[in-house]
Amino acid sequence: MKPGKADIIVGLDYGDEGKGRITDGKLQSGDYQIVTRFNGGNNAGHTLVPAPGKKLILNSIPSGILYSDVTNYIGSGCVVDPVNLIENEFRLLKDHLELTPERLKISALATAITPAHILWDRISGGMVGTTGKGIGPAYTAKARRAENGLVKNLRLGDILANPKLAAEVIKLNYQEIFDFLEDKKHLKIMSQFSARYGITNHYDFQYFKDTHAPREIDQFIKSVQELAQRGFIEKDPLWLTSEVENGKNVLMEGAQAFGLDITYGTTPYTTSSNTFSGAAYVGGDLAPSHHGKIFGVTKAIASRVGSGPFVGEFGGKESEEYCDQKLGDGSPAVNREKENSLPINQLLESSSPFEFGIALRSKTEEYGATTGRPRRIAMMDLHRLSTASRLSGVDELYITKVDSLTHYTRNRLFEGKIPLITGYELNGQEINHTPSNAQELYEVQTKLSFIPAIPDISQIRSAENLPEAVIQLVDLVQKFTKTKVAAIGVGPGREEMVYLK
Ligand code: IMP
Repeated sequence: MKPGKADIIVGLDYGDEGKGRITDGKLQSGDYQIVTRFNGGNNAGHTLVPAPGKKLILNSIPSGILYSDVTNYIGSGCVVDPVNLIENEFRLLKDHLELTPERLKISALATAITPAHILWDRISGGMVGTTGKGIGPAYTAKARRAENGLVKNLRLGDILANPKLAAEVIKLNYQEIFDFLEDKKHLKIMSQFSARYGITNHYDFQYFKDTHAPREIDQFIKSVQELAQRGFIEKDPLWLTSEVENGKNVLMEGAQAFGLDITYGTTPYTTSSNTFSGAAYVGGDLAPSHHGKIFGVTKAIASRVGSGPFVGEFGGKESEEYCDQKLGDGSPAVNREKENSLPINQLLESSSPFEFGIALRSKTEEYGATTGRPRRIAMMDLHRLSTASRLSGVDELYITKVDSLTHYTRNRLFEGKIPLITGYELNGQEINHTPSNAQELYEVQTKLSFIPAIPDISQIRSAENLPEAVIQLVDLVQKFTKTKVAAIGVGPGREEMVYLK
């Protein structure tokens, strides 16, 4: 039997590039029998379409779940919140398919996100603007291993082996948090956290402190046990290797994106895992000897959620602060409805970059799939893309939302042309590299190049019909990334892609 191969798909920006759609297109070809995740957890949110007009937003489960002949595998490099999996993702899928162990497997070596991790993330993740799902604290626990005779890293398999010990560990994790919280200024966070479990009134800080939240711990342990009882936990680290040796092809699906990589991203405003393609063979439970190709996805309208530098952002710091505003209950103060009620066409012609950014976001529907947070908007940055794509070793590049560039047509800022960042300067000196230090990134000056306005291309399906401005864009991207652009997106639908020769 000829062994199979593993291809990798990764985002090259800050997430939300539309990777799910490219993955879906690849799966439709029938070339892949397995889809894996190798990093991150339920901080990701990808939209799947189970039936026309229906949308499902999943977090940890790989994008192949709607294909009945595909096995989805959550690798050891991921962090897993068993409660969210069962209460949220399984529930959403229930109406559409029967989840079986042939369809979903989770490595027993994956580290669990415990309720204490979620609480700690809510308390400590503010500066970075984390998703508050416990991702950072879970990866921290993995690296801490054990301290002062106490195990820190709770993998799913470890919890199954000794659930009592796991419960004790979580209690002590809570204790660490309470020791830190000497005053009561975090009371609000505590009560929001309790509300997650439907507990209100009596569940105050003191109760937490005295009891260490036994209900959450119990629900957590039971959820891990349920995953095992239903056959989803895979104990054999060689499972994927054996499948590939037996001829199966794998698509390894990266979560988040290059700009959020814990090493290469905009440190410290990153996620807690390596997100670039090389991480696939660390957290994906397969050796690099099976490697095939790497697909990279970038978006023509650059976006970012959460805090941190974003070179080329329309409105700069003003936009960052505006998008980050929250209401008392923690929900975003700025949302789709609020912005849609503004005179958007007027703002598209504004000479204020901040206002132009609002118009571009509204026109191109850049709001978070799960949280509804407004995504910060920037011009396309070829300098950064060069680093992201080349370090990721991209063989085939996909540019989504190229049709959205048509909204630049009436802008006053660049006389209708489309700006592209083609160089960085720091302290008056041109720099060849892309810094990953946040302060330097906030300070860099950009060098711009321009392509002509792009007309409406949403009806075009063949490369010969693309306008000259799009060809110029593709040529520039290929020059900077030293790789081939395989296709461009001209609309949100599955078939709205133009493949280039
Ligand atoms: P964390 O991954 O929850 O620790 O959040 C760290 C940063 O990564 C925050 O700015 C998040 O908004 C961002 N982030 C995490 N996951 C995603 C994603 O899937 N798409 C976009 N941004 C993400």
